[in-house]
Amino acid sequence: MTNLVEIEDLKVHFPIRRGLFVDRVVGHVYAVDGVDLSIRRGETYGLVGESGCGKSTLGRGLLRLTEPTGGRMVFDGTDLATLKGEDLRRMRRRMQMVFQDPLSSLDPRQSVESILVEGIRVHGLDKGVDLGKTLRDLLTSVGLPHGSLRKYPHEFSGGQRQRIGIARALAVRPDLIVADEPVSALDVSVQAQVINLLEDLQGEFGLTYLVIAHDLAVVRHIADRVGVMYLGGIVEEAPAHELYTDPLHPYTRALLSAVPVPDPVVEDRRERILLTGDLPSPAAPPAGCRFHTRCPWKQATRCDTERPRLRAVESGHKVACHYAEQIRSGELRPHSVEPELVPELVLDP
Ligand SMILES: Nc1ncnc2c1ncn2[C@@H]1O[C@H](COP(=O)(O)OP(=O)(O)OP(=O)(O)O)[C@@H](O)[C@H]1O
Ligand code: SF4
Ligand SMILES: [Mg+2]
Repeated sequence: MTNLVEIEDLKVHFPIRRGLFVDRVVGHVYAVDGVDLSIRRGETYGLVGESGCGKSTLGRGLLRLTEPTGGRMVFDGTDLATLKGEDLRRMRRRMQMVFQDPLSSLDPRQSVESILVEGIRVHGLDKGVDLGKTLRDLLTSVGLPHGSLRKYPHEFSGGQRQRIGIARALAVRPDLIVADEPVSALDVSVQAQVINLLEDLQGEFGLTYLVIAHDLAVVRHIADRVGVMYLGGIVEEAPAHELYTDPLHPYTRALLSAVPVPDPVVEDRRERILLTGDLPSPAAPPAGCRFHTRCPWKQATRCDTERPRLRAVESGHKVACHYAEQIRSGELRPHSVEPELVPELVLDP
């Protein structure tokens, strides 16, 4: 399988400005800070991590909706930084985004027809085709009735609105869809329907997906490979099944340890890792390993001084931790949690 997307050392830093009269840059938010990532043609790459770790910025940087500060992005063999004007516009058609909140990403004054036609016209895909048929086919693909064309976004349920958002992305026949938390705003009962729809469309149209979620459970069923992000960097990447059964990075282990397992035997043996401390600000990320302020396995002084790079521990399984092997074998034990950081136990009288 060839790579459709190759990202090397991607950085997206946002300047923090102060000053009433003189615009001074007083710092930066290191939203994405040195990400390497490739996505194979036809696969689904799931990107997970807690709020603020830089997932959306990574997706937007890739589509150049936000201009990256540094790094290299290659799409289907073309270096995106070299593209300008008409060439960039043509390349943009091939990469589309589906947003978290379909209500705010769809213009309430535009009918569904006008929402769908817009991209088709911009990219000249209306020439020499039966536009009516194209629109009806699109609606069929996303499971909406043809009568939807004359309606407006507010006349639909949340799940249906997300179908409109997906149809808008599909309308310009992209190769890659970046789906940024596509189901987080939806009721649990419709989440699975939208995930299934994305899977069906992938088969039908040969799409490649980057699916962003803050919840490991959402990408579990849809992703072929999963990347875990923490404070602007990818800390672990593995085939989905392997990530869930053999997580190596302490942060991934902590995330998974917070998810209850339905099987009572497995649930009893489930390791519970309590993360202490708050998520540091991406404007002042910790030196060394970004996770060292919360890591139960932290070792002095390497973890505070040397940033671990993402390295392959096994074929296809990468981790950014100096001590992944020793942690996995049990040679290194987690430190006990410092007492002052544990919330006080309140016993029932
Ligand atoms: N345009 C911007 N200007 C300044 N800072 C920004 C901008 N966009 C994002 N940030 C900051 O960059 C960091 C990463 O934000 P981002 O939206 O990429 O996170 P996320 O992982 O998508 O979070 P969430 O799960 O909440 O959507 C955050 O600290 C955010 O406040
Ligand atoms: S490098 Fe050190 S601080 Fe970072 S995850 Fe590994 S053990 Fe923890
Ligand atoms: Mg986001």
